[in-house]
Amino acid sequence: MNDTAVIHWGIVGTGRIARRFAQGLAHVPAAQLTALWSRRPEPAAAFAEEYGGSVCAGFEALLASGIDALYIATLQDSHVDYAIAALEAGLHVLCEKPATINAAQLERVLAAARQAQRLFMEAMKPPFYPLYEALRAHLAADPIGEIGLVRAGCSAANVPPDHPSFSFEHAGGALLDIGIYEMFLAVDWLGAPLEVQTLGRLGATGVDTFASLNSQHERGIAQLFCGLDLYGKGDALLLAPGGHVTIHENWWNPARATIRYGDGRVVELDVPFEGGGLNYETAHFCELIRAGQLESPVMPHAKSLQMIAMADAARAALGLRFAGE
Ligand SMILES: NC(=O)c1ccc[n+]([C@@H]2O[C@H](COP(=O)([O-])OP(=O)(O)OC[C@H]3O[C@@H](n4cnc5c(N)ncnc54)[C@H](OP(=O)(O)O)[C@@H]3O)[C@@H](O)[C@H]2O)c1
Repeated sequence: MNDTAVIHWGIVGTGRIARRFAQGLAHVPAAQLTALWSRRPEPAAAFAEEYGGSVCAGFEALLASGIDALYIATLQDSHVDYAIAALEAGLHVLCEKPATINAAQLERVLAAARQAQRLFMEAMKPPFYPLYEALRAHLAADPIGEIGLVRAGCSAANVPPDHPSFSFEHAGGALLDIGIYEMFLAVDWLGAPLEVQTLGRLGATGVDTFASLNSQHERGIAQLFCGLDLYGKGDALLLAPGGHVTIHENWWNPARATIRYGDGRVVELDVPFEGGGLNYETAHFCELIRAGQLESPVMPHAKSLQMIAMADAARAALGLRFAGE
């Protein structure tokens, strides 16, 4: 594939996040929404009317529609099966977070990607935002030393009771819906988890509604929380010997950060994002396809495995097992 080849995208699942993806695609060079499928025909038709692409009669038809890449935007209980089927059909796969509901499923997906020699990436958006890239560049040029503590949390008490986050059947819960971002932040700055301590509770539907994690990583400690029954959208904090970084809320859609150096200097980074934010990971994914890469250096398979290992450990501590586990 040459450097400017148009990447033809398909989407499975045309709910909330698929809309944001499609809006973002308009900001991605040489990328086009070509085909889509969702279980119910009416929302799929309305989606195609708004964003383009042809509606396929079924998932198999979507796989055979001539697309290069599939964006999986269904709920997480179905990610594993759609990902494996798409990889086996020779497509590259960008899969919404959490990539799968547990590490065993993710191992199967990664094996399918290796077997098919196709690109697979979990759609973990923060590291692709211009602010996050600017922060990395700034810390490389004017360091604060190695990050030794990551503190981050998000709890949303205003999620409607019929939201999939509360669905046991769809493997919802705060850990997999919200906590996975925090687990990303922890492994991104601190490396693989070595130990995860978890306190938390399950709600009426059987999923976790609040969890507080302390985790030991290769290079430091993380303090994380996620919830569906308290309101707390805070900043993220990265501590190092020579200073600390605050990534301001909403840090999972990062646009502002403050670096406070031990010598008293304060650096403000203010880097707004465009296109809704999913466009950056999508543009990166398209570039990887054109370059013939099978794994993202920014969001490699190992990070996804480390994140889901943390979620597995936290759910085990809370006694939360989904169907089939
Ligand atoms: N990256 C981000 O910023 C972000 C933000 C929010 C959510 N997410 C992730 O994105 C995924 C979707 O979340 P959402 O908020 O978009 O949910 P949503 O609005 O409920 O949309 C889910 C879509 O998937 C379809 N679907 C669900 N299960 C399916 C299955 N087994 N087979 C086929 N289609 C299925 C639904 O179809 P029906 O209408 O027929 O049920 C619906 O079109 C979740 O994994 C979530 O964690 C990511």
